[in-house]
Amino acid sequence: MTVLDGDGRSPQKQMNTEPAQPLFRQVYEHLLNRMARGEWKPHDKLPSIRVLAEELQVHRLTVFKACRELAECGKVYVKDKSGYYVSPASRRDAEPEADKEKVATAYSLTSALSDIHRLPARYQFSQALIDPNLLPNLFLSDYVKKVFDLYPKVMGTYSSAQGDEELRGMLSRHFRERHRLQLAPEELVITSGSQQAINLIAGTVLGPMDAVLVERPTYSVALDIFRRRGARLVPVEITPEGYDLGQIEEQLRRHRPRMFYMNPTHHNPTGATVPAWQRKRIVELAERYRCLLVEDDPFRDMYFETEPPPPFFAYDTEGWVIYISSFSKYIAPGLRICAVASRQPFVEQLVIAKALADGGTSLLNQKIFLHYYTSSRLQQHVGKLRIALQVQKEIVEEELAGSGWQWTTPQGGLNLWVKVPETVSVDELFMRAREESISFVPGTICDPLGEMHSWLRLSYSFLSAEVLRDGIRRLKQLARELEGSGPRE
Ligand SMILES: Cc1ncc(COP(=O)(O)O)c(C=O)c1O
Repeated sequence: MTVLDGDGRSPQKQMNTEPAQPLFRQVYEHLLNRMARGEWKPHDKLPSIRVLAEELQVHRLTVFKACRELAECGKVYVKDKSGYYVSPASRRDAEPEADKEKVATAYSLTSALSDIHRLPARYQFSQALIDPNLLPNLFLSDYVKKVFDLYPKVMGTYSSAQGDEELRGMLSRHFRERHRLQLAPEELVITSGSQQAINLIAGTVLGPMDAVLVERPTYSVALDIFRRRGARLVPVEITPEGYDLGQIEEQLRRHRPRMFYMNPTHHNPTGATVPAWQRKRIVELAERYRCLLVEDDPFRDMYFETEPPPPFFAYDTEGWVIYISSFSKYIAPGLRICAVASRQPFVEQLVIAKALADGGTSLLNQKIFLHYYTSSRLQQHVGKLRIALQVQKEIVEEELAGSGWQWTTPQGGLNLWVKVPETVSVDELFMRAREESISFVPGTICDPLGEMHSWLRLSYSFLSAEVLRDGIRRLKQLARELEGSGPRE
């Protein structure tokens, strides 16, 4: 399995093209970060040069140079030629001011998905968002009025950085009753969407060169966030059957990732749902290898026939799971309300990150959400929405039947993950589709390795039935015209 640095290149290649930080310096920063986090305490022996080189996938000489530099700066010392040991004064807070300035540069400054969304399209298959006509917009305005009556000063007040107490109280009851999660309101942080939560968690947990386990394929925005942090992406496969536990354990053992970012329920883009037995085992592995599981769960309520298994968070007794539950997808995307559940001491770190990011999510939005979410209307709305989404998914499947395109029927969520015949180039199809005002997400951007050239993601949630049918027919026609433009793998 290849491991990439943040840019999807090997670190060695990056040394030639990334002038901002020589590779040994990145390794130096990385080791320093791990010491600062207490992974190695004063007088602990660092792993051998060979082990570090293997783990970071860099040359031994690069690690050697970084360690020598650490020794020269007094961060580590050499004992009896047996290896490098952490100096007592090596923690970050003991560093000279000049050293604290040395922050590894971001390796990726793109957001592939927002580049796609920026281009207007009539046949919008790239937005994993619900058709606004399916949301109860008129009812929502009733709640807006109610909120102003209940809290006349709501516009003149900030929320606390952690999030409105009343909302956190309601959500802690909701998570207990609905998913049997034992959560105190103090263990919840409200963020502006799950995208912000991922960003804040990455900023809190990841340092340059840290390894992060990611599904292959996965939500591309998360990949871009981790790349921006200079993290190394370590892929694990996700299939309709879930994960390969042997592969996960091997990657945990080899790379010692700081975290595993996962979207295990109606996964974006594949639609897969990880079975309950795997959830339990993976939480045990996370404990054993001291790896945080960041469970991103925005599609849980969008199931078609059967409810998905409980969240990973429900199996966690030691505080290794951070649970992100965004309500922005199907309740009111415009409100951008998301709850992050975790245990101390992480909650406190997240509150600080949130305070520094924006001081707290809009109080008005939190109050509107609170009153809307507890209403009986919402439950009716969610029930109807499930049916509407299932119908839309079936329309796309009907239109694709007999096309030679392949997919696994998802049991929920908003996307179909489709493989086109290898004789068709998805890159070419993407360009031609743009000219015809059709958008979709090419598989390559969902793949941490930048491969999956024959795959694409079609979101069926955003368009009305007729436009969906028409769009798929046009897309199939374009693919027929492009027969012979592949293979690309
Ligand atoms: C897996 C996943 N996580 C997070 C998000 C972003 O959600 P939010 O709108 O809450 O930021 C999306 C949006 O498509 C998603 O698919």
